[in-house]
Amino acid sequence: MKVPLCKLDEIPETGTKKIDFLGREALVFKVDGEPKAILNICMHLGGPMKLENCTLVCEWHGAEFDCWDGKRLKGPARRDSQLITLPTQVEDGTLKYVFGD
Ligand code: FES
Repeated sequence: MKVPLCKLDEIPETGTKKIDFLGREALVFKVDGEPKAILNICMHLGGPMKLENCTLVCEWHGAEFDCWDGKRLKGPARRDSQLITLPTQVEDGTLKYVFGD
């Protein structure tokens, strides 16, 4: 299954872009030029995230997560928590969510 998320050229070079992912809000952004997608849900109490350099920071209570793999760095979210990252691939200039083959 593949779900188009957005055109590659719509992803900003810095910061994030909000998109709809099957009725939930997700963020797309670039890390060292590589497109990434996460659900915009903090693993503490569900707050929205913003990107600061290579750290995703929760706007509610400041939990921090690594922008590469979504793993918690510090803050009130559980130590073993991780943001929900979406597996993606680029096809025909579009970033797509990919599930299965
Ligand atoms: S909801 Fe994100 S740190 Fe509390």
